[in-house]
Amino acid sequence: MPDLKKLFVIRAKDFVKAGEVSIRVQGILKGIGFSPALIRRASVCAYEGEMNVVMHGGDGALQLSVDPENITIEIKDDGPGIEDIELALQEGYSTATEEYREMGFGAGMGLPNIKKNADSLEINSKKGFGTHLKICFKVKDG
Ligand SMILES: Nc1ncnc2c1ncn2[C@@H]1O[C@H](COP(=O)(O)OP(=O)(O)O)[C@@H](O)[C@H]1O
Ligand SMILES: [Mg+2]
Repeated sequence: MPDLKKLFVIRAKDFVKAGEVSIRVQGILKGIGFSPALIRRASVCAYEGEMNVVMHGGDGALQLSVDPENITIEIKDDGPGIEDIELALQEGYSTATEEYREMGFGAGMGLPNIKKNADSLEINSKKGFGTHLKICFKVKDG
């Protein structure tokens, strides 16, 4: 299987295009022929990470890398960053505004769901310096 690397731009506050990057990621993974369960887990993570950039972050990008052993999704943005990562990882914790909650966001389940669905998750973020998620999936079981 050839190695693959693709970069997609994500724009902050662009709710018209929000979600398109994770749909592209899902399409690529389907095209490669990964199992539906693995594609679902990766797509959930891509979507939650993408929406967090749109809602909470700044302009950013998602990079999808595939090699024979791993699917890696890195999501970076240059937004305000996360002040307390442990807190942000707790189920139900959200700083979403009333406006976003009315749009159906802000359940505070995005980062917990990424953590649950990924084989590994690294979060690098600092207030004022943006956010970087590195999300990895093992291609083979066991
Ligand atoms: N890219 C990001 N930039 C800044 N803050 C973020 C980012 N992603 C997540 N956060 C912070 O972590 C919190 C929890 O995120 P999440 O679990 O996805 O819940 P929700 O998006 O519903 O608020 C957010 O409310 C926000 O405060
Ligand atoms: Mg979220």
